[in-house]
Amino acid sequence: MNLRGKNILVTGGGGVGIGAGVCQALVNFGATIILNEISQEKAEEAARKYSGAIPIAADIGNSVQVASMFDQIASEVGILHGLVNNAGVGLSKVAHEASEEEFDTLYNIDIKGVWRVSKRFVNQALKQGMPANIVNISSVNALATMSRYAIYASAKAAVEGLTRGMAVELGPHDIRVNAVGPGYVHAEQNYELIKTWSNNPQKWVKDFVKDQQVLLHDIKPVDCGNAVAFLLSDLSDAITGQTIYVDKGTTSLLFNRYSTEQL
Ligand SMILES: NC(=O)c1ccc[n+]([C@@H]2O[C@H](COP(=O)([O-])OP(=O)(O)OC[C@H]3O[C@@H](n4cnc5c(N)ncnc54)[C@H](O)[C@@H]3O)[C@@H](O)[C@H]2O)c1
Repeated sequence: MNLRGKNILVTGGGGVGIGAGVCQALVNFGATIILNEISQEKAEEAARKYSGAIPIAADIGNSVQVASMFDQIASEVGILHGLVNNAGVGLSKVAHEASEEEFDTLYNIDIKGVWRVSKRFVNQALKQGMPANIVNISSVNALATMSRYAIYASAKAAVEGLTRGMAVELGPHDIRVNAVGPGYVHAEQNYELIKTWSNNPQKWVKDFVKDQQVLLHDIKPVDCGNAVAFLLSDLSDAITGQTIYVDKGTTSLLFNRYSTEQL
């Protein structure tokens, strides 16, 4: 795969999980990344890790900041060839107990933020008359979920609907839109969230890998990044409107015939 000469905007690129894996893979395959983060400090700190990365701050939940990010990219970088909508927030709360504010905050970033950034990206691509490429980060939660994740799951299902719909609308302009749906990707910071439903988060993660995956090793952030790179590359020229699940088999598993004790 070769992404040389391609300028790719990655939202939430300072994330220690999937954002980091996406940035690493894209740089490995020769792309120049424009690394978006919610603050200038975060963007600059993360960009130092990747050769040639250009930091840019904007809250993707804020239309004014997104508009000025695209103005800045146009004047400092020029043409953008690709966009990875990675930035996202989580919420661990049963739907009937969540507040309006919690619902709105999650939706404003996880689905409206994807649309907001994509809209600007597509309009700059149409103006240039250039082929372009979007990859949205979805989740296995778009297909099936667990208790406390209904609101997050519904936003990710919407991301996949938007992916298919925009693919249909933009195909005639040579703009492809796909998604990558990660399974559980571990980062130290996840333990805090897992504590909201398990009093032994380390054991929960170990059990998840053994009981809920078909391939029994952790999914690494760069595994997700490699799938993103493929979808951004010319090797996937015939693919649009699809989601690739990078889940080590989670979404194929009906139930596990092994117990963790046997492994
Ligand atoms: N970690 C997982 O297991 C997992 C699984 C499936 C899908 N995902 C998805 O992958 C993506 C990245 O998640 P992660 O777990 O790596 O999280 P993370 O918290 O490590 O990274 C998210 C990054 O996005 C940034 N961000 C948050 N809100 C922003 C905003 N409004 N504007 C700009 N940047 C913002 C954060 O500062 C952070 O650096 C998310 O869309 C998430 O839903 C994660």
